[in-house]
Amino acid sequence: MTSRLLSFCFPFSLFALTALVSCDSKNQPEQAKTDSEQPIVDFVTDVKPILQEHCVRCHNEKSLFGGLNLTTKAMAMRGSDTGAIIVSGYPDKSLILTALSLEHGEKAMPATGPKLSDEEKETLRLWIEQGAEWPDGEEGSVPPVEVDVKSV
Ligand code: HEC
Repeated sequence: MTSRLLSFCFPFSLFALTALVSCDSKNQPEQAKTDSEQPIVDFVTDVKPILQEHCVRCHNEKSLFGGLNLTTKAMAMRGSDTGAIIVSGYPDKSLILTALSLEHGEKAMPATGPKLSDEEKETLRLWIEQGAEWPDGEEGSVPPVEVDVKSV
């Protein structure tokens, strides 16, 4: 009797388990979606092109306006004459974002050339909020675009 009951019940409990597992795995992607409504910002694909287009021609090892070099993580983290410009996790405390949000004055960045779009500013804000990951080595190096520094 017991064994008959067992053989009767076993397929059902297996079925229930499978249903539970498959139900769980179905839920997971949705969970991940709600958790990450904000896009994950990647330094190499999202941040580097912005720095390269708008910033490093004035902020590199030869042209150190404001004492700031944005061509490598190590240099950027040393900050400007004023101090740290990127405070990982704290966009509001990051001078780099303050400089971008200024409209006028010598501290409004970029000092010359087109301003950043709202989307680009938001990318940098999110990047800092998400921990300002900046890889070492080739990936993380932001070579200045070739321009005649004297004409800037
Ligand atoms: C045309 C040259 C030029 C470009 C392009 C430029 N900067 Fe600057 N940057 C300067 C100068 C000049 C200063 C020094 C301003 C001062 O202290 O009066 C400076 C200073 C800064 C500082 C330090 C401010 C402080 O108070 O210490 C930050 C941060 C900064 N720039 C960020 C950027 C970022 C980010 C970009 C690109 C979006 C950028 N800059 C593009 C010329 C430039």
